[in-house]
Amino acid sequence: MTNRTSRDVLRRGLWVLGRAIREQPRIFAVAVAGSVLFGLLVVASAYVVGAVVGDVVVPAIERGSVGVAALALAAGTLLGISVLRVVGIFGRRLGAGYMQFRLQAAYRRRVTRRYLDLPLSWHQRNATGTLLSNANSDVEAAWYPIAPLPFAVGTLVMLVGAVASLFVTDWALALVGLAVFPALFALNVVYSRRMAPRQARAQRLRAEVSGIAHESFDGALVVKTMGREAQETARFAARAGELRDALISVGRLRGVFDPMLEALPSLGTLAVLVVGTFRLRQGAITVTELVSVAFLFTVLAFPVRAIGWVLAELPRSVAGWDRVRRVLDATGEMPYGDRALDPDEAGPATLTFTDVSFAYEPAEAHLPGTEVLGQVSFDVPAGRTVALVGPTGSGKSTIAALAARLVDPLAGTVALDGVDVRELTAASLAGTVALVAQVPFVFDDTVRANITLDRPGVTDDDVWAALRLAEADGFVAALPDGLDTTVGERGTSLSGGQRQRLTLARALAGRPRLLVLDDATSAVDPRVEAAILAGLRAPAAGGPAASILVVAYRRATIALADEVVYLEQGRVVARGTHAELLATVPGYADLVTAYEQAETDRAQQRTYDEVSPLTSGLEVEVDR
Ligand SMILES: Nc1ncnc2c1ncn2[C@@H]1O[C@H](COP(=O)(O)OP(=O)(O)OP(=O)(O)O)[C@@H](O)[C@H]1O
Ligand SMILES: [Mg+2]
Repeated sequence: MTNRTSRDVLRRGLWVLGRAIREQPRIFAVAVAGSVLFGLLVVASAYVVGAVVGDVVVPAIERGSVGVAALALAAGTLLGISVLRVVGIFGRRLGAGYMQFRLQAAYRRRVTRRYLDLPLSWHQRNATGTLLSNANSDVEAAWYPIAPLPFAVGTLVMLVGAVASLFVTDWALALVGLAVFPALFALNVVYSRRMAPRQARAQRLRAEVSGIAHESFDGALVVKTMGREAQETARFAARAGELRDALISVGRLRGVFDPMLEALPSLGTLAVLVVGTFRLRQGAITVTELVSVAFLFTVLAFPVRAIGWVLAELPRSVAGWDRVRRVLDATGEMPYGDRALDPDEAGPATLTFTDVSFAYEPAEAHLPGTEVLGQVSFDVPAGRTVALVGPTGSGKSTIAALAARLVDPLAGTVALDGVDVRELTAASLAGTVALVAQVPFVFDDTVRANITLDRPGVTDDDVWAALRLAEADGFVAALPDGLDTTVGERGTSLSGGQRQRLTLARALAGRPRLLVLDDATSAVDPRVEAAILAGLRAPAAGGPAASILVVAYRRATIALADEVVYLEQGRVVARGTHAELLATVPGYADLVTAYEQAETDRAQQRTYDEVSPLTSGLEVEVDR
């Protein structure tokens, strides 16, 4: 780290501290008041000790008898000072703690709130691990120096008080103070400068070690089945070793500087005694003053360290703050409009894509984004079912995301009931469209909570109705606690197909007017998949039908659709019924046949093996 950047870190670190103070001014004032009270009392206690020695102990030794009144007064004063110091420490600690943890909580809230506001395109560019550490360790790091800050501010006041009282006592002793205190300060600065890069490295390695650990637990299934345990352990061990070395180098530096920081005030005390004895003999100072000053140097050694603590935490704080700021200042928000579709309109909605083009933002800003959709036009008329078919990577999931307005098109429009989705309110959109994603997400909660998501007005009857439509009522009823069964993190206690049906039921429970199914039943038996779609198209009496846009591969499913939109490389190649496309579009026929062949092979495989839910889930994931 060069001088220049470390000065920059200091400047920006102080700015972060200033921001913390501006956000919590009153608590900060309480903490600093406590700390200043403590600091002034430390200086005062040195003078009281001096007075006790000079005015009580020395005369007592000379006279051979102890003045009880004087002793009582001295004891009372010291006790009083101690009590006030306790008050000071209490105020400082409490204030600093409140300030630090309130700031942490406030920024954690702001960061996670921001995650939910930022559009999908932003999330696609940022890894989950980073988001976790932004909300967690980065927020913590940013506000670490808050804990010792009031102490450091109080110490500065204390040092000024100490030097001033030295000048009042004797100029020669004041010069010793002027030599020692700045030297202590300078030593602290050098210490923290040396420490900063080591701490930063350790912080980065901590994140990496936990990242690798997280990944290997998460991918335990892959690691085990591929027999990569040894390699995975070695990968982890290498990083853990680096972290150990980084922490040892932190410890080594501490080992060098800590004794120096301890020794300097002791040397100061020694200098005071030498200079002081000389001045005492000259008659310039009294014994009381000499003892006071010597004692002052010993009691100051500890608080001066507080300044070092703040300085040492500043680089980490700046690094954490920068990462937090990156989230809070992230742009690319998707503003919602203020139009709502007619709330009384309960029937199915119409979806219209008109000349829609789309490109994902490039990983690095200077690279061009590649177009993944070009002039896509099609519609899903009210109450109809349209199947989206195309080879892998042809843009089906992208179309699904556009239909639910997770992303906005580069050109062209996506409209619901003729209204551009960008003009709709968030509530109107969420109430109209439900997207069931390719990869199901299940919360670590009960089945009921996973389906209702705390949406108002979703009763148990609605939940069961949705489960029935998703062909999930059977297995949910068989769970030990029915709707109250907890399904584990990401639904680990469920099979892949069960998870998919649960997320489908979640979408249905909101009574959407347009249902977008992105390969949402791929892990479900083909017969069950067709049954689900048939049920959705003609729901039992009472349930309003939704328009359906379904990404599908299986012939039985596709055949249920009123129309098929066939995509290749982000372009609509053909539209028509399944039979028409089979007859006229060779690519379409090839794709559907190839998929069917794979299905048959897999079905045969199933009859050979005893397949547990665990491996059948894996099989699907590896396949896709
Ligand atoms: N987050 C992303 N960033 C950049 N490119 C992406 C992103 N997601 C998808 N793509 C690219 O966009 C294209 C279309 O992807 P999309 O997920 O829509 O395909 P798909 O038809 O759903 O494929 P599959 O059948 O495998 O699910 C692909 O070329 C893919 O590489
Ligand atoms: Mg997809």
